[in-house]
Amino acid sequence: MLRLEGIEAGYGRCAVLRGLNLEVGKGETVALVGANGAGKTTVLRTISALIRPRAGRVLFDGKDISHLKPHEIVCRGLSHVPERRGIFANLTVYENLVVGGYTQRLTSKDFEEVYTLFPVLRERAKQSAGTLSGGEQQMLAISRALLSRPKLLLLDEPSLGLAPLVTKKIFETIQRISSQGTTVLLVEQNAHAALKISQRAYVLEVGEVRFAGSSKELQANDEIRRAYLGE
Ligand SMILES: Nc1ncnc2c1ncn2[C@@H]1O[C@H](COP(=O)(O)OP(=O)(O)OP(=O)(O)O)[C@@H](O)[C@H]1O
Ligand SMILES: [Mg+2]
Repeated sequence: MLRLEGIEAGYGRCAVLRGLNLEVGKGETVALVGANGAGKTTVLRTISALIRPRAGRVLFDGKDISHLKPHEIVCRGLSHVPERRGIFANLTVYENLVVGGYTQRLTSKDFEEVYTLFPVLRERAKQSAGTLSGGEQQMLAISRALLSRPKLLLLDEPSLGLAPLVTKKIFETIQRISSQGTTVLLVEQNAHAALKISQRAYVLEVGEVRFAGSSKELQANDEIRRAYLGE
């Protein structure tokens, strides 16, 4: 479904990604893990066209999307939940959801679906989003992305700053979203949790893929256990 070929990207003169290759198959949940500064967010920003690659191509459903604008990428069926969520603090929960679905003709059924995933959002629909707890904001950011009806959901550190129980709930919901047919590319610091719910994973190190394989394989790899799983 998604293929990154030889991606080189960065900021100004600073090169971050150095010839990155990565694939996500339809229906898969693929994890992208790595240390702070490895370039994980830069990968997602490149896919969403928030930054332009200097070299390489991004293919989605077999078509080159490298030249598209961010809103066109959303229309093709990719939706990005950014690091630190990027919710619209001054809008209500409901208004944030409406903005997420601006490319679609939403019906009440669409809202029901996200309220079923995260019932707290129904209770908080009229509350200004900036006053939600961190966990609720993450739920809102994921729901907002789902309302664009993505084929591929890009998640950047959904567990960032959340308590263990909330993190568990978020990961369970990601599995549920995946089982309902959405393909997922999951960036995570929490490698344990990410490897548990993904089928395949990439380990990024200073802009390059250091390991790639099935998540089970990576969980069993001694070097990865030491470096990324704290064992
Ligand atoms: N807007 C920017 N301008 C300049 N350099 C940037 C910018 N954003 C990121 N970088 C640099 O690019 C490198 C990769 O950053 P990136 O955010 O992709 O890493 P990451 O793997 O997502 O890290 P983290 O786990 O901390 O979120 C870092 O060295 C960072 O300082
Ligand atoms: Mg990041």
